[in-house]
Amino acid sequence: MKITVVGAGHVGATAAQRIAEKKLATEVVLVDIVDGIPQGKALDMWESAPIEGFDAKVIGTNTYEATEGSSVVVVTAGLARKPGMSRDDLRDKNAGIIQSVSEQIAKYSPQTKIILVTNPLDVMTYVAFKTTGFESNRVFGQAGILDTARYRTFLSMETGISVRDIQAMVLGGHGDDMVPLLRYTTVAGIPITQMVSKDRLDEIVQRTRQGGGEIVKYLKTGSAYYAPSAAAVEMVEAVVTDAKRLLPCSAWLTGEFGISDTYAGVPVILGKDGVEKIVEIDLNDEEKAMLHESANHVKENIAALNL
Ligand code: APR
Repeated sequence: MKITVVGAGHVGATAAQRIAEKKLATEVVLVDIVDGIPQGKALDMWESAPIEGFDAKVIGTNTYEATEGSSVVVVTAGLARKPGMSRDDLRDKNAGIIQSVSEQIAKYSPQTKIILVTNPLDVMTYVAFKTTGFESNRVFGQAGILDTARYRTFLSMETGISVRDIQAMVLGGHGDDMVPLLRYTTVAGIPITQMVSKDRLDEIVQRTRQGGGEIVKYLKTGSAYYAPSAAAVEMVEAVVTDAKRLLPCSAWLTGEFGISDTYAGVPVILGKDGVEKIVEIDLNDEEKAMLHESANHVKENIAALNL
């Protein structure tokens, strides 16, 4: 089982490390355009194997030959956000990168599943989908797991209850108009509204929407990577173990939730074939309106792409 991570920056290198340490692959290939970076990081990571106790080979490279026959490719290549930049500001620069990366992936791993992480996420997932010509179930993006993890963390901070007992789902595009579903947020099955006041919940939702920006403001020269890489690797794990997890992911919509011809964050079943099913949960009018607005924003950005 070979897993490739394209982009050996903060998110990519951390994802590769998590994949190796979780023993999800026999070979982890790290690709980057900068000479020496993927080679150095991969060797350093491999040298942690005796201590961490994993058997995977970790290979760093600037070309794609070593990625041949990958089961899953995680794409993190591109520019990260700087303070004051929205995810959309990155659009055209990263679209060109994703296009060239996708061509190489399709050439060397025509059967692979691709998990996009590069922002603006839903638009970049579309670029990979179009460039590879793969079926849509094999090209999907990480967004909702990270947004949901942030939301669950904030709710845990608020209630003092373990994050493990807080269940929630955040849908929509991976932008500031994401859609946290309060009605489906529970603490061990108990509706969150019985535990946290409406005002505090509104503030937590707002903090979740701006969760990426909050980290960018602190780091100044880059964006979040511990939680984003953990989220991407949760998806890798669901695919390689054929776990049939129900997770929010950016998936290609063809009429589900009344939305078509765009990627957006929706609940999906993730297994060995990638997105095996889109789960059309019941949304009220307000939630539907938010999801549509979020999806329309993605659509506008797809239409504005300058490829
Ligand atoms: N092919 C391979 N790697 C590339 C290419 C390319 N064409 N272009 C850029 N890269 C590499 C850079 O050399 C860099 O090592 O992508 C890496 C990006 O790493 P960072 O700048 O550290 O960015 P990171 O924080 O990892 O974020 C990557 O994930 O969460 C998103 O918004 C984030 O879009 C950003 C992406």
